[in-house]
Amino acid sequence: MTSLNGAVVLVTGANGGIGTHFVHDALARGAAKVYATARKPRAWDDDRNVPLALDVTDSASIQAAVEAAPDVTVLINNAGTSVSSAGILTHTDEEIRTNVETNFLGPLFLARAFAPVLASSEEAAIIDIHSALSWWAVAGVYSATKAALWSATNSLRLELAPEGVQVVGVHVGYVDTAMAAHTTDPKTDPADLVRIVFDAVEAGEYEVLADETSVQLKAGLSAPLEAVYPQLKIANA
Ligand SMILES: NC(=O)c1ccc[n+]([C@@H]2O[C@H](COP(=O)([O-])OP(=O)(O)OC[C@H]3O[C@@H](n4cnc5c(N)ncnc54)[C@H](OP(=O)(O)O)[C@@H]3O)[C@@H](O)[C@H]2O)c1
Repeated sequence: MTSLNGAVVLVTGANGGIGTHFVHDALARGAAKVYATARKPRAWDDDRNVPLALDVTDSASIQAAVEAAPDVTVLINNAGTSVSSAGILTHTDEEIRTNVETNFLGPLFLARAFAPVLASSEEAAIIDIHSALSWWAVAGVYSATKAALWSATNSLRLELAPEGVQVVGVHVGYVDTAMAAHTTDPKTDPADLVRIVFDAVEAGEYEVLADETSVQLKAGLSAPLEAVYPQLKIANA
């Protein structure tokens, strides 16, 4: 279990809808410092916030962040991007590469870069923001990258457990941020999501299923494929 009280937290994509709540909630729980990282860092209204430039797709930027933030105890891999069309056969090359680099390679390379820093701390954690879509392949390459990140998180957890680093994977359906602005479906409030995630981290849990969608989709992994994807029955009729 990892307490946020006294922690030194680094949030990627800190200016985004969920990232902003990670910054505020970490401070509310007593974090000593929060590196609020973004491609274009902004000013914050708390002295404990340290704005830091970080593009998760740029290895030089990741290296610079490790050098600028050698005291991190909680790494939150929150930055992410999505695609406007769902078809994995119809995305552009650039959409595919950007999703893979932002949603999968970025968090993996950040975890690898910060692993020695985290291992040297008495209490440390990595929080990877996956999606319910890790387990539901309806969003093309976005689903694929979130499934890949889920698997990498599972490997990181095993490899970092002996070092005392807690690795937490987060699954959630729609959250009320710019990324989900295109839909009127029910959405989780980002403040609620962040509270659920930090409660789980502080309770020593490894996985967060933040909403009913995620609970159902995880259960669906053991169901016949036609139950999870009814469109297969129609296609096969
Ligand atoms: N919203 C949902 O429905 C939902 C559901 C499940 C999971 N998630 C996941 O939750 C995480 C946060 O998303 P959100 O809902 O808060 O969306 P958001 O408001 O669009 O925020 C995404 C953030 O990621 C940042 N980002 C994108 N590419 C980056 C890069 N190369 N380097 C650094 N930062 C980068 C963006 O920064 P810029 O401001 O520079 O563009 C933005 O601040 C993502 O991983 C997303 O996949 C979201």
